[in-house]
Amino acid sequence: MSAQPRSDAEPRGGAEPLIEAKSLSRVFGHGANTVRAVDDVSFTLGRQEVVSIVGESGSGKSTLARLVLRLLDPTSGTLHLSGRDVTSLKGRDLQAYWRDVQAVFQDPFSSFNQFFTVRRLLNRSLRLAAAGSAERGETLMAQALEHVGLSADVLDKWPHQLSGGQRQRVMIARALMLQPRILVADEATSMLDASLRANILNVLADLRRDYDMTILFITHDIGQACYVSDRVLVMSQGKVVEQGPTDEVIFSPRHEYTQRLLADVPRLHENILD
Ligand SMILES: Nc1ncnc2c1ncn2[C@@H]1O[C@H](COP(=O)(O)OP(=O)(O)O)[C@@H](O)[C@H]1O
Ligand SMILES: [Mg+2]
Repeated sequence: MSAQPRSDAEPRGGAEPLIEAKSLSRVFGHGANTVRAVDDVSFTLGRQEVVSIVGESGSGKSTLARLVLRLLDPTSGTLHLSGRDVTSLKGRDLQAYWRDVQAVFQDPFSSFNQFFTVRRLLNRSLRLAAAGSAERGETLMAQALEHVGLSADVLDKWPHQLSGGQRQRVMIARALMLQPRILVADEATSMLDASLRANILNVLADLRRDYDMTILFITHDIGQACYVSDRVLVMSQGKVVEQGPTDEVIFSPRHEYTQRLLADVPRLHENILD
């Protein structure tokens, strides 16, 4: 894996958005039980941008993540990747999309198969990446692990031999091996204790620079969102109630809901670490 910028480099956040979501909606259930989990959400992700989605539990963040990941079909609306309509991709095209858009989820414990060593887990992903020779595969694995601050020693470890922070870093390494253009991190740091959380947030920040990666960072914690992101989208009841550059949203929140989220974080910077 190369840490070089992509050769087709265009300026950060270039003219054409990498991802463009237009009026995305997702409804669950029927009749009186209808839930509008995501309701008419539009946003863009530019190249090398880190954009956070924040909101209380149940506000629709994970549903939006799954729509962007194409793990779930929207009820209405469209999704474009680099100008191409990917709303209804199927088969091989969808597989290719999943190489471009990778995910890291909340719980590094449950996303591991306890009967797989780290090597076997990563090897399965390498098949998707079509890494070629076994030797090349080893190199890709070692590079990805190094990038998240783990040594190749972890390759022969079982999940129960790793700490929560190490597992989460393995999951990020797994996503990295596929050299995605976009990483969707859904509460990826929520289960970690404070020092590990700062560490993982810094790993993510480095990825943007070193891998030319775009990150959609999803969290219920506006403090973490502020720490990592260029822009913040605030979700409530399936809708984006406010979006803007991080500093604007923190220092002059317009929506009462955002003000309330911020009020829960009295000391923004210290909160990341405690
Ligand atoms: N598969 C599903 N079936 C029915 N309702 C769902 C499903 N997934 C999510 N929901 C509902 O959609 C709403 C948003 O959920 P979710 O996207 O998980 O929010 P968040 O990630 O912000 O906590 C919630 O009311 C949740 O109960
Ligand atoms: Mg969620």
